[in-house]
Amino acid sequence: MSPQVEHKTISGFSKLSKRKKIKWIVENFFKDPENVMRELISYWHKDDKQQDILDGFSENTISNFPMPFGVAPNFIINGEPYVVPMVIEESSVVAAASAAAKFWMSRGGFKTEILGTQKIGQVFLKWDLDIADIRLRMPGIKLHLIAQSHDLTKNMNTRGGGIIDIQLKDFSKQETDLYQLEGTFETCDSMGANYINSLLERFGLELKSYALQEGLSEPEIIMSILSNYTPQCVVRASVSCDISDLGTFDQGTMTAEHFAEKFATAIRIAEIDPYRATTHNKGIFNGIDAVVLATGNDFRAIEACGHAYASRNGSYASLSHCDVSNGIFKFWLDIPLAIGTVGGLTKLHPIAKRSLELLGSPSAPELMSIIAATGLAQNFAAVRSLVTTGIQKGHMKMHLQNILNTLEATPEEKEKSINHFSQQVVSFNAVREYLDTQRAEA
Ligand code: MEV
Repeated sequence: MSPQVEHKTISGFSKLSKRKKIKWIVENFFKDPENVMRELISYWHKDDKQQDILDGFSENTISNFPMPFGVAPNFIINGEPYVVPMVIEESSVVAAASAAAKFWMSRGGFKTEILGTQKIGQVFLKWDLDIADIRLRMPGIKLHLIAQSHDLTKNMNTRGGGIIDIQLKDFSKQETDLYQLEGTFETCDSMGANYINSLLERFGLELKSYALQEGLSEPEIIMSILSNYTPQCVVRASVSCDISDLGTFDQGTMTAEHFAEKFATAIRIAEIDPYRATTHNKGIFNGIDAVVLATGNDFRAIEACGHAYASRNGSYASLSHCDVSNGIFKFWLDIPLAIGTVGGLTKLHPIAKRSLELLGSPSAPELMSIIAATGLAQNFAAVRSLVTTGIQKGHMKMHLQNILNTLEATPEEKEKSINHFSQQVVSFNAVREYLDTQRAEA
């Protein structure tokens, strides 16, 4: 190993104290070690107990990574008012969600419908038994696995959840002797990852004990893990109103009818073209991820599942749909959301806990509704801008703040710049030039 490589690698890093970890990092990777060390330490929580909780979420932690925690008020979902917590770093997302929430507030608000709440887990195994024999034995295998998992599932059963089904799936044509036990589960208000994974590992062990008991060859368990694809855990969020109630757009130059048609065409484009669908769905996930993150849920699982679901008909397509007929504008989103309001980070993360409190301590299906409504609101706001003023007007207004912060503008300079750029095209160079002129004149 070259000396350059050697001093940038380390063994036993995880055992170092946090200060020593930082020291090693700053000394080997930064030009200004003392300042960087001071900066990283400045983001530690002032309360050691709180910091311990945050450190407990991960490993090798050296500091905290701050993200803005915003709220979008005026969401009416199934007749109930909500202030939606959002953690996101992109300018204009919270403003767009708030604007769409307010728009729909006076037009009946958001409606949601839970289309399913079941989740899937998979045990993949190799077994040199004939498929017909395994099929014949499946009712017995299922009874055995359920009976032998009682200790793991009794609490969930009391809460109204548990194992719904165990099915055999045959992959032996694609790969010799390969089968899958597919478990279907109801995990109530918890996301259920630990519950499902523990059960699946038990199923694997108990399948082996079943084989031994029956004098059969031993199956080889390849792996046991939940599936993040949850097309049976889906919520539909929708908005609708008379077309004439949409009002006018573009300072009164675009009629409600024209807007409705243009909007529906934009959605149709995202249903047809995967390039547009990706950007379109990204806009939906701007809202969804922000709430998922704010409530301590797993945004990677939600994203992976959402995109798989968007491809379920063989081509990647829009998650939202629009219908304009019989004088009614209807816009809706079907989205799989395997989230929880108990367990995981939900009660441990100090702000996630407050987010859930702000939402009135929702059940998992209620949180699914809130998240889906936020995704739909975000999508409505983005597409509304795209088919009317264009996205850059609002975006650059918000982005101006970031540029001004980067250029270390004073509050006075910020006020003047915001005024000036309300009538001008915003760009980094234009703002810098404007500030330079202002500063030269001062
Ligand atoms: C930007 O973060 C999201 C949008 O691109 C979404 C869209 O195009 O629909 C504005």
